[in-house]
Amino acid sequence: MLKSAVKEAAQRLGIVVHRDKRSDANGHHYRTIVLDNPLAPWLDRRFAELYERAKTFTLVDAQRCYELWDVAGQLSHVPGDQLEVGVWRGGSGCVIAAASPVKRTFLCDTFAGVVKSGGRDSCYEGGEHSDTSVAHVNRCAAGLGLRNVEVVRGIFPDDHIEMFRDKAFSFVHIDVDVYQ
Ligand SMILES: C[S@@+](CC[C@H](N)C(=O)[O-])C[C@H]1O[C@@H](n2cnc3c(N)ncnc32)[C@H](O)[C@@H]1O
Repeated sequence: MLKSAVKEAAQRLGIVVHRDKRSDANGHHYRTIVLDNPLAPWLDRRFAELYERAKTFTLVDAQRCYELWDVAGQLSHVPGDQLEVGVWRGGSGCVIAAASPVKRTFLCDTFAGVVKSGGRDSCYEGGEHSDTSVAHVNRCAAGLGLRNVEVVRGIFPDDHIEMFRDKAFSFVHIDVDVYQ
């Protein structure tokens, strides 16, 4: 109670108070990173409004989504479609689609969770992130007013060889979590 009151009071002054998480059960370390350069382009209105509508559909934070949006936008003059493999509920894929609204953007997922995990993967066993559906992705795309999104269900690349055989891509984001 007192802690959250202190936090809120500090926040009103523009100060963020939190405890650093040191490490998790897998031995991964966590630190708060304070950058010397305070430039925060993901807060610029055009992107911030987009991310606000996409954020409940993604596991990817604003900073990384901004990078995807910025780079995909810079490549919008390069011929080819866009592709994301590993879409979950569609957030980061729709951010990419929004960066180049005239390009077809294929969003591929098993919609049954992670596959092809193996000995080189420390965290994933298979089946994680299955709490999604094509309808989630379509809802995300509709919320952003996108008409260039094509949702593709299946295991990449095995199920897509024919579909993508003659396609060229200007931007591909692979976010499947496993080494293979
Ligand atoms: C971390 S999530 C993707 C997060 C997503 N980019 C977002 O915006 O939150 C990883 C996804 O990859 C999918 N996936 C893993 N391996 C795949 C494969 N070989 N083919 C298609 N989808 C795959 C899983 O089903 C899962 O939804």
